[in-house]
Amino acid sequence: MHYKQLIWLGVLGWRGNFRGYNTGIKVKTDMIEWHSKYELGIEDIDFQHHFFLNLINRLANELRQSDNLERQNALISELSAYARFHFISEENIMFAAGYPDFIEHKNLHFELLDQLSSRTNRLAIQKSDTAGVDIIDFLIDWFLHHTSTIDRVFADWMRKEQGA
Ligand SMILES: [Fe+2]
Repeated sequence: MHYKQLIWLGVLGWRGNFRGYNTGIKVKTDMIEWHSKYELGIEDIDFQHHFFLNLINRLANELRQSDNLERQNALISELSAYARFHFISEENIMFAAGYPDFIEHKNLHFELLDQLSSRTNRLAIQKSDTAGVDIIDFLIDWFLHHTSTIDRVFADWMRKEQGA
């Protein structure tokens, strides 16, 4: 089975469990597994992306097991703090390398953090399970797309720049 199908089944299974009913889908895994396509070849960024993926998996797993809002908010705070750290770190690497699309990339990071913040506030205010699902959907989409497409543009530029 293709890993994307596993991810999709994982998300469906997580939703089913979280909302308290059974989707009837046999879920093989509810984790997003690290894949070589996520490797950018920049050691610090790859290390942080790997950590970030593990954090998303842990968040999804613990949210599934707990309906304690305080606990959910604590987990999401940890993740938001790490996302902020990671983006600053990535931006510093880009700036130091003289990346010409630095500002555009930084703006994308800002938009992602802004969206994460809106969703986190919704979870804190609404006390609804859909807000938690919404955050997980958003994070998975963010990881699968931003880190493996937009960040790759920078990695490709860096490789050319270094003549590798
Ligand atoms: Fe990025």
